[in-house]
Amino acid sequence: MAMNGLPELLDISLRVTPLHPVDPSTVVLGIETSCDETAAALVMGGKDVLSSVVSSQVDLHAAFGGVVPEIASRAHLELLNPVIAAAVVEAGLEESRVDAVACTIGPGLIGALLVGVATAKALALTWGVPLVGVNHLEAHLYAAFLDDPELELPLVVLLVSGGHTMLVEMVDHGTYRLLGQSIDDAAGEAFDKVARFLGLGYPGGPAIDRVAVHGDPAAVAFPRAMLRESLDFSFSGLKTAVVNHVRAHPEVATEHVAASFQQAVVDVLVAKAIRAAGAVGARGIVLGGGVGANSLLRTELMDACERAGLRCHLPSPSMCTDNAAMIASAGWYRLRADGPTPLDVGAHPNLRLPLAL
Ligand code: KG4
Ligand code: ZN
Repeated sequence: MAMNGLPELLDISLRVTPLHPVDPSTVVLGIETSCDETAAALVMGGKDVLSSVVSSQVDLHAAFGGVVPEIASRAHLELLNPVIAAAVVEAGLEESRVDAVACTIGPGLIGALLVGVATAKALALTWGVPLVGVNHLEAHLYAAFLDDPELELPLVVLLVSGGHTMLVEMVDHGTYRLLGQSIDDAAGEAFDKVARFLGLGYPGGPAIDRVAVHGDPAAVAFPRAMLRESLDFSFSGLKTAVVNHVRAHPEVATEHVAASFQQAVVDVLVAKAIRAAGAVGARGIVLGGGVGANSLLRTELMDACERAGLRCHLPSPSMCTDNAAMIASAGWYRLRADGPTPLDVGAHPNLRLPLAL
């Protein structure tokens, strides 16, 4: 009888597969289901992307103006097995070549996460390979290593997604220090809320990005909150400023409002990232998270880094938004550092970035 009262054969927490050496030839299957993308990828050695398949549920949620958790879970259930099969085929490998299965265990929507976690456990058990539970936020940091595995540490990571806006010092693999974060809305949340208010639809970030190209970023002088104070961010006042301005000046074209809003967000993100890099003596800045796909943020961060003598690491837009290659990469590093995750691991909707400092 195991400690928890279960007969040993049924107690899967005891069934941790012995770990083979984790090396550059180790192939990890990554699974991502934390929100509205169903994704699977095979990555070798934490850096070589053999395949990356992302099935977006955008069309399913668009009619509701945002992600509906129950619809997301059901869609993951239907899509995940075919997406994994497609990732294996795209990689051109036999399933038997997979050395470990990594999945997002949080943060995210509980029902959505559970689909990925249960599937990953089933595959790890069936194939007799280790499971690795991955923190989605840590995985966003690893997207940059897929493009450039030789990144020099320490680095400052600007992590800007739908749920988080953070400046993190990556001191070493797995060793992070939080330098600043949003005290209210995340940057992506601000993009989504403003886009919805402007009638630009969902998802809001890409919609504003597209429309802003035709607008004048200096048309409206929106506030740059907390620009000179600390390394924290605040975006809820900016969102209110957009609403108030549009109500007072309905004649101003939407593209000008969108461009001015986008410029205000980008100005603050870039200024604080550069300041953070100076404060900790970082050699470069890494961009991560869905807002990292924003075209203005990418060009302005690149220019600012060049002026400041810093290296700028911009993962491709498809590696900034949610994908499973970043999960497999972070999984490889976690497996090497900590070994396999016990199979009784759960899903953790509010998981935080593991801060060691
Ligand atoms: O990292 P991500 O794919 O999912 C989360 O972990 O949250 O980020 C999604 C967020 C959404 O708020 C979306 O509107 C935003 O990233 N986003 C963008 C762009 N593409 C995605 N925001 C601004 N410009 C974009 N091009
Ligand atoms: Zn994400």
